[in-house]
Parts: sequence; structure tokens; C-alpha cells
Amino acid sequence: MKAIVVQTDREERPLRWQEVPDPTYAAGEVLVDIYATALNRADLAQRAGNYPPPPGASDILGLEMAGRIAALGAEVEGWKVGDRVCALLPGGGYAERINVPYPMLMPLPAGWSFEQGAALPEVFFTAYLNLFMEAGLKEGETVLIHGGASGVGTAGIQLARQAGCRVFVTAGTEEKVARCRELGAELAINYKTDDFVERIKAHTGGAGVDVIMDMVGASYLEGNLQLLKTYGRLVFIATLGGSQAQLNLGLLMRQRLRLIGSVLRPRSVAEKVEIKRRFMEQFWPLLLDGTITPVIDSVYPIEQAMAAQERMAANQNIGKIILKVRE
Ligand SMILES: NC(=O)c1ccc[n+]([C@@H]2O[C@H](COP(=O)([O-])OP(=O)(O)OC[C@H]3O[C@@H](n4cnc5c(N)ncnc54)[C@H](OP(=O)(O)O)[C@@H]3O)[C@@H](O)[C@H]2O)c1
Repeated sequence: MKAIVVQTDREERPLRWQEVPDPTYAAGEVLVDIYATALNRADLAQRAGNYPPPPGASDILGLEMAGRIAALGAEVEGWKVGDRVCALLPGGGYAERINVPYPMLMPLPAGWSFEQGAALPEVFFTAYLNLFMEAGLKEGETVLIHGGASGVGTAGIQLARQAGCRVFVTAGTEEKVARCRELGAELAINYKTDDFVERIKAHTGGAGVDVIMDMVGASYLEGNLQLLKTYGRLVFIATLGGSQAQLNLGLLMRQRLRLIGSVLRPRSVAEKVEIKRRFMEQFWPLLLDGTITPVIDSVYPIEQAMAAQERMAANQNIGKIILKVRE
């Protein structure tokens, strides 16, 4: 098959669509012909050599895909060759084929394109896991989502809104801010022109928020802590703004705050299946009826994966960037 391979012998680490060995599939796995995959921020770090795949995972980039089942391993139940599916992957999505443990599969809803299916798993599982399972977000609570126009942010806004929460976000351009409002954010702040701490304090009459999902880290810590209500929860999913910071432990105690760190990729298949099960139980009907939908920024042919990654690296995307693998 063909796959995108990082040319590690060149300084800029270009990506090339080239022949590689086909994946094998074991008992309990299916082989899928990939029609579309999607970019994630982690792909940029992996390409740069800073984010190796977890043990046992493919070293090909790509954390999700949508396609058709091409073959079934032994002991696979409930699926047949030809079924349209999408799935979260620990790696291997930028390719023509991938092996997937069958409990990780999700059926592609009728009428959905493979591009839509490829846009779903990683950011919706991440937003679901961190907002609801890790931070325990509940109906009626207020949540602040940084990076509101990112793939994860656009999923998180919709999930939190449909769960009956008030959603505030930050984003870096006026266009991003406007799109976040359309998706359901009550307050969307351009952090480049406005102080998000002051804006949220003013908007909530000083009350602040119950939960924050943060991908910025160190440079936002002080502001985030100022905004959390008593019993507030702050969940870190990335450190785009640095990972070393000073912390006022007295404030943490007085306000009874919870600081949570979380990653999805290295978790076991069993944990990921449980995240999938809970996400589908709560939100699948809303995806089927179109209330919630993956936000697609752009679609590139897989051979143009480098151009697609440049768009992400320049923070230009709103939602997901898709790579089309087959017609
Ligand atoms: N922990 C996990 O399990 C997990 C899983 C998936 C993703 N993630 C992380 O979640 C984040 C979003 O992922 P994604 O794939 O959805 O990313 P994405 O679509 O590339 O969006 C990331 C956005 O973050 C903003 N940003 C970049 N650098 C920033 C900085 N220094 N300060 C403030 N904002 C900055 C940019 O938007 P603006 O223009 O608004 O600044 C950028 O578009 C990534 O950092 C990713 O690594 C974590």
C-alpha cells in the first residue's frame, strides 16, 4: 500500500506518499480501506520527532480515519466486509489501509461522507473525555474552552452546549470568534485584542467558571486560576504556551480546586472503548439528527499532506483539516 512517510534525513522533514508494507491484522481486528483521514496537532509534533507513537502503534502519522472494512480477522463480531466505519487510531491513518480492533469501530452514519467520518473520532473523544469524564462537567455549569476554533474546541463547544452548559471560549482572530459564536459559544473572546480574564469576570459579575479546558498551559495558568469558582476544575490537554509555571497552592486549597492533566493516545484499547461507549450513549443521537456536526475547515488530497500541515502550523484552520485518500 501507499502511506505518508516522514523523510527524517532532511532537516525540514518533508512528507512523501510512497510504498510501504501492508498492515497485518490479528484476531479481533479488521482491516480497513481508508478513504479519508484528518490532521491533529499531535501530527506536527510527531513529524518533528517530538512525539513518538506509543509502543505497538504504527509509526505512520494519523490518529483517525474513515473507510470501508476490507477483511475480518478471527473472532470479529457484528461487522462485515464493505461496512462504512470510522475509528480513533494510535497511529497509521495517513495510509491506504489500517488494522483496527473491532470494538473501536463506529458505524459511519447514513448520508455522511468519509470526510465527515474522519473528522469525528479524535476531537470529539478528546472533548468528551476531558469535559465530562475528567472534569465532570454538569448541566447548568459554565465552561471556558481555550482554542475554541481548534478541532477539539469546535467539538467541545457543541458538546457542552448540548449538555446544557454555558460556554465561553478564546480564539485568535475575529473570524474564529464569530464561528465559535455560531457553534454555540455565549461569549467568544479574541485573546489577541482582549483580556479574557477581565471579559469573563465582567460577563459573569465576578463569578467565573466551573470548568476550564486548556491547551495553552503555563502562560494562562494565573488567569485560569483567577477565573475558577470554588470547586472549579481545570483540565490541561496541551501546553502550547509552555509547561513550566508557578502555582499558588494556598489558592488551590482555599478554593478547593482540581487540576487535571490528560492524554488520550497512550491509553489502553479498553479505556478508549469505554470513552467511545459513553460518548456514543450520550451524543450519538445528536450526531445522527445533525444537531452536532464535525466542523470541516478544508480537504486536501493525501499527496498534499505537507501543505495541509502548514495550514495547521500557521493556526489558520477553523475545525478539522481532512486528507482524502481515495474517491
Ligand atoms: N491531551 C489530549 O488527549 C489531546 C488530544 C487531542 C488534542 N490535544 C491538543 O489539543 C490542542 C488542539 O488540538 P487540535 O488538533 O484541535 O488543534 P488545532 O486545530 O491545530 O488548533 C490549535 C489552535 O490553538 C491555538 N494556539 C496555537 N498556539 C497557541 C498559543 N501559543 N497560545 C494560544 N493559542 C494557541 C491556535 O488558534 P488561535 O488562532 O485561536 O490562537 C490553533 O489554531 C492541541 O494542542 C493538541 O495537541 C490534546
